[in-house]
Amino acid sequence: MKATSKANSNIALTKYWGKRDKKLMLPQNGSTSMTLSDLYTITTVEFDKKYDADSFVLDGETLEAGTKEYDKVKKHLDLIREKAGISENARVESKNNFPTAAGLASSASGFAALSVAAAKAAGLDLSPQELSILSRRGSGSATRSILGGFVEWTRGEKDDGSDSVAKQIALAKDWPEFRMITTIVSTAQKKVKSTAGMAKTIENCPYYKDWLATVNEDIENVKKGIKEKSFTLVGETAQYNCLKMHATMITTRPPMIYWMPATIAIMHAILAWKEEGLEAYFTMDAGPQVKVICLEKDVPELEKKLKEIEGVQKTVVCKPGDGAKIIEEHLF
Ligand code: PMV
Repeated sequence: MKATSKANSNIALTKYWGKRDKKLMLPQNGSTSMTLSDLYTITTVEFDKKYDADSFVLDGETLEAGTKEYDKVKKHLDLIREKAGISENARVESKNNFPTAAGLASSASGFAALSVAAAKAAGLDLSPQELSILSRRGSGSATRSILGGFVEWTRGEKDDGSDSVAKQIALAKDWPEFRMITTIVSTAQKKVKSTAGMAKTIENCPYYKDWLATVNEDIENVKKGIKEKSFTLVGETAQYNCLKMHATMITTRPPMIYWMPATIAIMHAILAWKEEGLEAYFTMDAGPQVKVICLEKDVPELEKKLKEIEGVQKTVVCKPGDGAKIIEEHLF
């Protein structure tokens, strides 16, 4: 009844912003992403009668019973226990190899890893599609981390969410030259988490309807670009789509400005480098970090230039990575 999994984080190329069903975590719009090779969560889950209560340790820190984080993990385990027809309490230990909740999609890798390990530990044999639906219940972006390479999370039409799942656009090996350089400009926890931010945007952003009206075209362009290996089409669309999402965040009341001075400095630099013939694009989520979309051949020059920008603390180069999987080495 013990299992361990490793799930990579993913970064959206076209973003998910807004829920149409909070309980089932159904999105207002579809999204696309790349699964990252080097930012991951490892999680061990054990269900056993010997445990008096569920316990969760994240990056060496125990989550106290009754906190929001604890309840979120417990609710997710309850779903799995119900599916498997078991009632044992669980011990869960989880480790990220990057800072939690700083806009590096820790909830994506976190809930994908938890779902894969807990389902296996509970004796369930689920398909990748079923695992993506299960992961979605914990965090929307986790839906996409179940698969590797380039992934679409379909909006779906059904009320039960059975068609809101991860679909493969291309495998990691189909475009091995594609890169994302993740820059860390701040490791502070973000002020407004995505769930609260999305709800506010839907509530009062006057441009949210325009976001919804134009997002499908971006998804189609990114999918076309990936299939044809057109780097320019993927990069330009991803950058444009990110700016449209941030436009809705900024024009929500109260405003959500996730960018820090270094975020803006990187954006300016990337636009200037492009003019000079160095082709790269930026994308940011609900946080200050910039993910630089580029090709392998330009990584050395881009990394060198990025590190010279004031405020850039660290860069991590990610390739298209694998989907979530079971591993043999347990954390306890
Ligand atoms: O599912 P969450 O809470 O990780 O929300 C993700 C929201 C964005 O990162 C801003 C966009 C996305 O599609 O990943």
